[in-house]
Amino acid sequence: MNESVFNPAGPQADRIAGMWWYMFSVSSVVWTLVVIALLYAAWHGHRRDVADQSDETNDRLRRPVSIAVGITVFILVGTLVYDVFTGEALASLPRDNALRIRITGHQWWWEVEYIDPVPGNHITTANEIHIPVGEPVQIIGSSADVIHSFWIPDLAGKKDLIPGHATAMWLQADKPGIYRGQCAEFCGHQHAKMAVLVMAEPRPQFNTWYKSQQLPAAPPSDSLSRVGEKVFMSRGCPVCHTVGGTLALGRIGPSLTHIGSSYTLAAGTLKNTRGNLAGWIVDPQGIKPGVKMPPNDLSGSELQAILSYLTSLK
Ligand code: CUA
Repeated sequence: MNESVFNPAGPQADRIAGMWWYMFSVSSVVWTLVVIALLYAAWHGHRRDVADQSDETNDRLRRPVSIAVGITVFILVGTLVYDVFTGEALASLPRDNALRIRITGHQWWWEVEYIDPVPGNHITTANEIHIPVGEPVQIIGSSADVIHSFWIPDLAGKKDLIPGHATAMWLQADKPGIYRGQCAEFCGHQHAKMAVLVMAEPRPQFNTWYKSQQLPAAPPSDSLSRVGEKVFMSRGCPVCHTVGGTLALGRIGPSLTHIGSSYTLAAGTLKNTRGNLAGWIVDPQGIKPGVKMPPNDLSGSELQAILSYLTSLK
């Protein structure tokens, strides 16, 4: 899994990395020259009282100081111009029929909605964003509570998600892979455990995934999962979670319609394994203190049943 601005995997990230290297090089040269000048002055200069400074000395200094000021202004203006052009370029990826994804920040997870031209094909997932490789994708961001910041270092710069205000950005991955991102704006207790994954896949693979997500949850196929579904529905779970095709329609927490095929749990906090899922259901507060999910007091057999049910939701 990648997560580094030095490893750009898309046109936006490329531009940002280019700008970073430019600033790093210029700053390094300036710093080196300043240090050389400082050491030169320390070794070769000699102490003189202010009162002794003649007009001649002032004249001698005027030239180098003017040149240094000129170079400084030139560098600053150059950086400003480069910055403006980079900003323009970052916003200039639009395409008419591009895939549009609405990302809503929540404390502390990401709601991901694919805005399909056919309303019936609209899907809602969480924390994992599948995109087709080599195509610009429009991200429309907002927040359900406080300000979050959407940041996939390998693919693009940061974008704030602001309550009541939609922001837009473009994203493109040129290489298939899983790119990790992280909320980049302090948003409360579990800000650090608010990760997001972007899975960039070739178009056909993306289409298969997209179709699979449009399906409602598969009904439980074995007796343990059927018991698990009953436990799930009779506890508080449906108040907060949706399972497509069932009476669970909660929108407070992530949709669990395809939780069995998700890579991680709790916004990148845990790898999605049966054991981690069990720990998360029983004691989410121990894993992510302050999270909105309450602990669940289940018997061993109820827990096993609910695990069978949830892991079957592929
Ligand atoms: Cu969301 Cu920090």
